[in-house]
Amino acid sequence: MTAAAFDEFGPAEVLRTRRMERPSAERGEVLVRIISAGVQLTDAAIRAGWTPPGARIVFPQIPGNDFSGIVVALGSDVEDLNLGDEVLGYSMLGSYAEYAAVPASQIILKPQALSWDEAGALSASGQTALTAFEDLGIAQGDRVLVHGAAGGVGTIFTQLAVLAGAEVVGTAGEVNHHHLRALGAHPVSYGPGEMDRLRDVVAGFDAVFDAAGHENLRLAVGLVDDRARIATIVDMSLADELGCRIVRSRRTAERLGDLARLVADGRLRVHIRRTFRLDEAAEAHRDVETGHGRGKIALRIGEP
Ligand SMILES: NC(=O)c1ccc[n+]([C@@H]2O[C@H](COP(=O)([O-])OP(=O)(O)OC[C@H]3O[C@@H](n4cnc5c(N)ncnc54)[C@H](OP(=O)(O)O)[C@@H]3O)[C@@H](O)[C@H]2O)c1
Repeated sequence: MTAAAFDEFGPAEVLRTRRMERPSAERGEVLVRIISAGVQLTDAAIRAGWTPPGARIVFPQIPGNDFSGIVVALGSDVEDLNLGDEVLGYSMLGSYAEYAAVPASQIILKPQALSWDEAGALSASGQTALTAFEDLGIAQGDRVLVHGAAGGVGTIFTQLAVLAGAEVVGTAGEVNHHHLRALGAHPVSYGPGEMDRLRDVVAGFDAVFDAAGHENLRLAVGLVDDRARIATIVDMSLADELGCRIVRSRRTAERLGDLARLVADGRLRVHIRRTFRLDEAAEAHRDVETGHGRGKIALRIGEP
């Protein structure tokens, strides 16, 4: 099969397409012919040398942590999934490839209403956003500040908070302000004078979600008294120092199913800003590594 993989840590250029052995579905796994895979900063961090807790990097390593595709083989002890099922799911590594063998417990059926790219790019950012939404206890009437609201995680979190009936203010570059308005949030530019601009929009905040880093937590502690309602997915050491909440994605098939249903019902959108071919995976990494952008990037790997 063809896959995008790296055999040394380094910049985006180390990620190249090559022929690799097609994996087989072991006990409890299914083999998925991948149609689309989401691209995350985490994938780029792994390519650059970071090893996620619990993962083992083996060269040549195929990155990629969410996908959509079609089940083409079943390992033993797999119930509830059938050959030909259209699915989406997650795994720490391995989805920038024509085929991936994945535990059946990390896969759900793809609702017809989701496009292949939406389904392929939903899990990583979606599950992180939903975990943060749950941990912060966002509820109707909350006034919520989202740092990095236009990004992959921020775009989903913002929509979940708006759906819950919260009033949401999101920080973003000016080019993304129309995007935040379309999500139902008030946009504010980050950078010098941000505190004054925030106070102009809302009198106070009940919760802050930081999906951007850049020491935004220092601003947050001046806005919200209860530090359990200030969370970051980026600035872990600063959160420790300030007593804020650290969120790490808790991925489950159930949580992914909840998100997929919201998308299928038209209440949540996965915004795909650009798709790349598998042989353009390095370019896709360069794009996510800019730290700017709107919504998600997907790799289009196969055809249905
Ligand atoms: N803990 C976890 O489990 C977990 C899981 C997933 C991701 N993450 C991390 O979460 C972060 C966000 O991921 P993502 O995929 O959403 O990234 P992304 O799509 O690149 O979004 C980052 C956002 O940050 C904004 N930004 C850039 N500079 C900023 C500044 N100085 N102040 C405020 N906002 C700024 C950008 O806004 P503009 O484009 O509008 O400039 C962009 O929308 C990454 O660091 C990622 O590694 C953590």
